[in-house]
Amino acid sequence: MKLSSDAQFEQEVEVLIGEIKQHYGYDFSGYARASVYRRVKRFMGQKGLENMQQLREPLFSDSFFFEVFLQDVTVNVTEMFRDPSFFLSLRQNVLPLLSTYPYIKIWDAGCSTGEELFSLAILLQEEGLLNRTKIYATDINQKVLRQAKEGIFPVSRIPAYTAAYYAAGGKQEFSGYYRSNYGNAKFNSELVRNVVFYPHNLATDSSFNEFHLILCRNVLIYFGRELQERVLNLFDESLVSLGYLGLGKKETLAMSGISPYYNAVDKTNRIYRKLN
Ligand SMILES: C[S@@+](CC[C@H](N)C(=O)[O-])C[C@H]1O[C@@H](n2cnc3c(N)ncnc32)[C@H](O)[C@@H]1O
Repeated sequence: MKLSSDAQFEQEVEVLIGEIKQHYGYDFSGYARASVYRRVKRFMGQKGLENMQQLREPLFSDSFFFEVFLQDVTVNVTEMFRDPSFFLSLRQNVLPLLSTYPYIKIWDAGCSTGEELFSLAILLQEEGLLNRTKIYATDINQKVLRQAKEGIFPVSRIPAYTAAYYAAGGKQEFSGYYRSNYGNAKFNSELVRNVVFYPHNLATDSSFNEFHLILCRNVLIYFGRELQERVLNLFDESLVSLGYLGLGKKETLAMSGISPYYNAVDKTNRIYRKLN
């Protein structure tokens, strides 16, 4: 691939970020730059695009092409029971307290293709809470939300997911939750009967409900400090008092302005409880 110097390329990406905001309304200006530059470069390489103009043309004339670009730039990698100790901790430290509420509302922010959501739903089912829980599963990317709704994951991942399920305190036969068909595992759609799938952009959209638990893992790492702070404030606004925030191992509340108002329930898995 023939690309201009790094500095010029970065400048061109900055211009592109502004154009994307204008054209599609997606604001990437708060994302961690190194990762955006790397991903745009990789995307251009994969598509055989030699310069920014060659990227710009399909990007602004073909919304499907833009969706593919969006998916590449925003990193959708996920798995079921990712970091099983996080789910074990939810099961042991959070769900018993949530079970005292007559009706539970959860926000899975940046849910990607749904593996995290189905893991959560399985946990809720096993703890007897699924029927009285409403989950809002949101992501910036509509394509991954459509996949999440389907609950179809490659059967090749099942051995790893089964091990992670048991490490997360799984209580049943994992195979009871899905049916295998032509290389895929289709998870029981009853698990997501009470789930609302909803496009929501953490960089620009507002709070839309109040929740007892918010999960947002492996999303903030792609954002710069300022955007991280915006999102954490959004979560703070969206949590009931004594509500829980699960950020996972890679993210923290530590440097944030909202941190004095939270207790760490699990320091390793970064699960916090909002003070009264
Ligand atoms: C690496 S995945 C994490 C999926 C899942 N939470 C997990 O931990 O396995 C990051 C997700 O964040 C989403 N995302 C990125 N920017 C976003 C934004 N501004 N608003 C909402 N979702 C965003 C991406 O589309 C992607 O699906």
